[in-house]
Amino acid sequence: MDPYFTELGKTVYARWKAIDFSLEAFPAIAVKALGEKPPACHADLGKLMVDFLLNDEQPYQSSSGFGQPELILHDNPKFYIQALFWMDGTTDIHQHGFSGAFHVMAGSSLHARYDFLKPRPVTARFRTGDLKLRKTALLPTGTTVPIASGSGCIHSLFHLETPSVTIVVRTHSDPGTDPQFTYLPPHVALDPIQNDTLTLRRKQLLDVLEQTGDPSYPELVLRMIGELDLERGFFILQNGIGHLRSLGAWEAIWAAFVKRHGAKARPLLPTLEEIVRRDAIVAMRAMVTDSDLRFFLALLLNIPDRKQILEMIADRYKGAPLDTIQQWALELLQQDEETCWILDARFPEEVPIFEDEQPGLLLAALDFFLKGGKLPRELQGLTKKTLAALNQAIVNSSWKVLGKKS
Ligand SMILES: [Fe+2]
Repeated sequence: MDPYFTELGKTVYARWKAIDFSLEAFPAIAVKALGEKPPACHADLGKLMVDFLLNDEQPYQSSSGFGQPELILHDNPKFYIQALFWMDGTTDIHQHGFSGAFHVMAGSSLHARYDFLKPRPVTARFRTGDLKLRKTALLPTGTTVPIASGSGCIHSLFHLETPSVTIVVRTHSDPGTDPQFTYLPPHVALDPIQNDTLTLRRKQLLDVLEQTGDPSYPELVLRMIGELDLERGFFILQNGIGHLRSLGAWEAIWAAFVKRHGAKARPLLPTLEEIVRRDAIVAMRAMVTDSDLRFFLALLLNIPDRKQILEMIADRYKGAPLDTIQQWALELLQQDEETCWILDARFPEEVPIFEDEQPGLLLAALDFFLKGGKLPRELQGLTKKTLAALNQAIVNSSWKVLGKKS
């Protein structure tokens, strides 16, 4: 066992015991102990890893799937200390059923805090409401942040370096704070531990039909949506939206969902569209290793506002933020024999232009979309139809939030 974390555990235990294990006081005790002797300065990550691999005397390890991986470094009947490694990790937006504090031991993260306003329960495990971004902050190595249980601390983390390592000093669970809702912006909160195994198996069976190209897929989903309750219907739509869109069947199925559930269904459409957008950015993040580009993806994922994104870039980088973005766009540009793309903005197929001219035009169209003003020279000879197609490719992508007019 690592001596630093044994000592940290003993310190936290003694101070907490002295005030009769007051739950409200625990986050402050954890923050203070981590701040007095920060793991980022005083613990040796390399030694810790070697000790964990070679020494059998370790605390009891859980089977948690959180972290990549999670190591328990100190355990106690009242609380424990864990190290969470993050390789390409982006956490969902979530709240906790425990309290304490976390400390950025290695790497850095973008931290976003949220409020869930006007919650309306659909079932005990599924709510609709309005998820609003409260604050974002960059957490450099050495930062410590308190964790409160319940809906007062809804947050997400986007880890910028690989690996990032966080140390968490936490209670096991705080009574009365379940379920640990996960939030799907902008309008849904759900319990990720659903235990609705019938729905799970139905989704898996639909995946079989999808992967085998079975033509009955859209018709079966349409019939299911006509019968299912709101919560189960939402999960079937969440599972199938990508495939249904590619089949051209999405509009009819969404209309059936609205017919079945009326006004209650409407907030779920922007949520389903946001799931598709976020999944695309998270998938791209796994392929991008440069920490500046990861930072940019973190902003696109977490901040739904052009002005705030530009401010975050201005805080971290010299020069005009839009020029920095344009430089990143150039680095993110990819090309094959047929086309080119920047993140999920793909050069439109229907535009008849030679491949070697496409990257310059896509970059110019993006620059015009970001900055507005006079049409750039590169785009001046193009037809209105081509300009509209280029603009549409960008508007339908993750770049949308950065548009001059958005
Ligand atoms: Fe968390």
